[in-house]
Amino acid sequence: MTAQDYLTVTAVDKSFGGLKALRDCSFSISKGAITCLVGPNGAGKTSIFNVITGFIKPDQGAIEFEGRSLVGSSPQHIVSLGIARTFQHLRLFNDMSVLDNVLISMRGQFGEMLLTGLFRPFRTQRGLSEKTAAARAILQDVGLGPKSAEIVRNLSYGEQKLLCIARVLASGADLILLDEPASGLSAAELQATINLLHRLRDSGKTLLIVEHNTRVVKQIASDVLFLHQGHLMARGTPDEITRDPALAEIYFGNMK
Ligand SMILES: Nc1ncnc2c1ncn2[C@@H]1O[C@H](COP(=O)(O)OP(=O)(O)OP(=O)(O)O)[C@@H](O)[C@H]1O
Ligand SMILES: [Mg+2]
Repeated sequence: MTAQDYLTVTAVDKSFGGLKALRDCSFSISKGAITCLVGPNGAGKTSIFNVITGFIKPDQGAIEFEGRSLVGSSPQHIVSLGIARTFQHLRLFNDMSVLDNVLISMRGQFGEMLLTGLFRPFRTQRGLSEKTAAARAILQDVGLGPKSAEIVRNLSYGEQKLLCIARVLASGADLILLDEPASGLSAAELQATINLLHRLRDSGKTLLIVEHNTRVVKQIASDVLFLHQGHLMARGTPDEITRDPALAEIYFGNMK
């Protein structure tokens, strides 16, 4: 196995009724790299995330992570293997605190304890204080340290998106899939997010990121995958992909 074979997707098909969301979709991603997944609306970007992370089962095809097949595994099992993702539509616990949202995602049984209400009696236990310290460190790292006690619904949209990344980090995953982490952010939040993504890559994480903003793609990606109608149409460096007139027509023609 080479670094390029860290995650391989081979000939994946997925239909929803008569609609083919993924069509003979194949690609691989390299360990330690930031790969961006681009393509017009409805190209299948979120669907391929759903297939990789076990939320939908492909009709056909193979997915391997470090040589191990993922097809048929539950989302929880896939997280335990070291793959975690964010959602395009956030999916946070809006009435809970920022810190508790991160604690729920911590590796192990801890999150379940919190959700089943067994949390408070254990608050003084050593395991809990260690987990809490780790969660606070993650929040500090993503820039949400001062917001730890805040209720999620009081955060700005950009802060909520950073919290989604914090939750993924809490899972301990090495391969991180982010679905449009930069969309809807202010200029300052966008820069903070780009800096965070660079830091994560430098710390050894592998990132696969759905991103529409070409300027962001150029700043973060070493590799770009271009998906069209559920099929990998092209792959290359950000410059190669953004300069290709045929791809631009597919991308922007679709938005006319
Ligand atoms: N659970 C589902 N049931 C039915 N159709 C679905 C489902 N999930 C996705 N689709 C359809 O599959 C196609 C691909 O959708 P997908 O969400 O993967 O696209 P996308 O590339 O993420 O688009 P966007 O840029 O808008 O987020 C779309 O036509 C979508 O309507
Ligand atoms: Mg999507």
